[in-house]
Amino acid sequence: MTISFTPSAAVDRVARTSKRPAMGPAPAGAVSLAMGEPDFDTPAPIVHAAETALRAGETHYADQNGLPRLREALAAKLSAQGVRDFGASEVLVSHGATAGLAAVITAAVGPGDRVVIPEPCYSLYADLVQLAGGEPVLVPPASDMHWDLDKLRHALVGAKMIVFSNPCNPTGIVHTQNELIALGEILKDTDTLVLSDEAYDVIVYEPTTFVSALAIESLRDRTIYCQTLSKTYAMTGWRIGYVAGPTDVIAAASRVHRTFNGSVNSSVQVAACAALETDQRIVDDMVASYRDRRDLLLDRLAAIPQVTSYDVDGTFYSFVRYNADRPSEHVTAELREAGLIVRAGAEYGPSGEGHIRLSFAADSTSIGRAADILQQYFASVAPALESSPV
Ligand SMILES: Cc1ncc(COP(=O)(O)O)c(C=O)c1O
Repeated sequence: MTISFTPSAAVDRVARTSKRPAMGPAPAGAVSLAMGEPDFDTPAPIVHAAETALRAGETHYADQNGLPRLREALAAKLSAQGVRDFGASEVLVSHGATAGLAAVITAAVGPGDRVVIPEPCYSLYADLVQLAGGEPVLVPPASDMHWDLDKLRHALVGAKMIVFSNPCNPTGIVHTQNELIALGEILKDTDTLVLSDEAYDVIVYEPTTFVSALAIESLRDRTIYCQTLSKTYAMTGWRIGYVAGPTDVIAAASRVHRTFNGSVNSSVQVAACAALETDQRIVDDMVASYRDRRDLLLDRLAAIPQVTSYDVDGTFYSFVRYNADRPSEHVTAELREAGLIVRAGAEYGPSGEGHIRLSFAADSTSIGRAADILQQYFASVAPALESSPV
């Protein structure tokens, strides 16, 4: 007998609204600049720490909020970074930023709650808000892809939360200290929470400097900080990240986390301790390599008259505007036919339409082949752009 199954209303809401594609491996022979992950393997000292931990018997359930030694190390790191001190109880270790974001949004957002999401933005946020029964309020950017503060001010009235990534996936822009201060001003005397996803905080290119929301006095009591080891330490497959913030919010997030997940893998948490303790030049070397590859990609894009990229101050993404009268989902489908896999700008919000996102965390040969395909494709479908947006 076959049973009749209808997904829950929560799943149905996400299924109806989500723009996130199910990503599989790239077809043989295709070049992929689609995935949001470092192309480096995890540095050896981190792998070694996990291996040693497993052999030493770190194979049991761990503290559900995270190993105390890891949370203490993270709290010390955050205290050094911002305008307030953190204790270990204000840090929750999660299965990547994904689960940290999910725990916080599920813990804070209920039916009817409005959550402001400046777009274009990482497409997970709206899905999580939908899952929680809240209302995602997408706010378009200014022409340089930074926040349009007037639009934000208007949208934030009565909002439960604002969530954003800084540096921004997909645009590669880095929000400035002044933007963050302005946000603090807008939110003064409200109970609106700020969920600041800083997954790419170290992947920032000179002369841009990064300022965390943790360093903004006017945001100090309302900010929930979200971080991951995925990008910084090339640890996407290990699934470890964390959130930190006001005690009551973290306690609520912890309840969601232990209900959904229990504890994070013990040996992975030991490896995370090793990542924090190891010589951080391993990270600098990876960032230097991303910078070189950013320059290579942007040089090649500059020679394609039908496209233009925003300045890439952080992340390993270039958000490329194209001059062709066809939706980004069609463009990505046609590029796939031509052997190049990229992400459609529309995935990241209405303002992402007319764009594609390229990841340059790829080897230079792949970047070169991708640029050749883009050049050929856009020459065949689009007139040259007359002016650049930035
Ligand atoms: C802005 C942003 N936040 C969070 C994540 C999720 O990271 P994690 O691997 O830690 O779940 C990503 C991954 O692409 C991201 O781009």
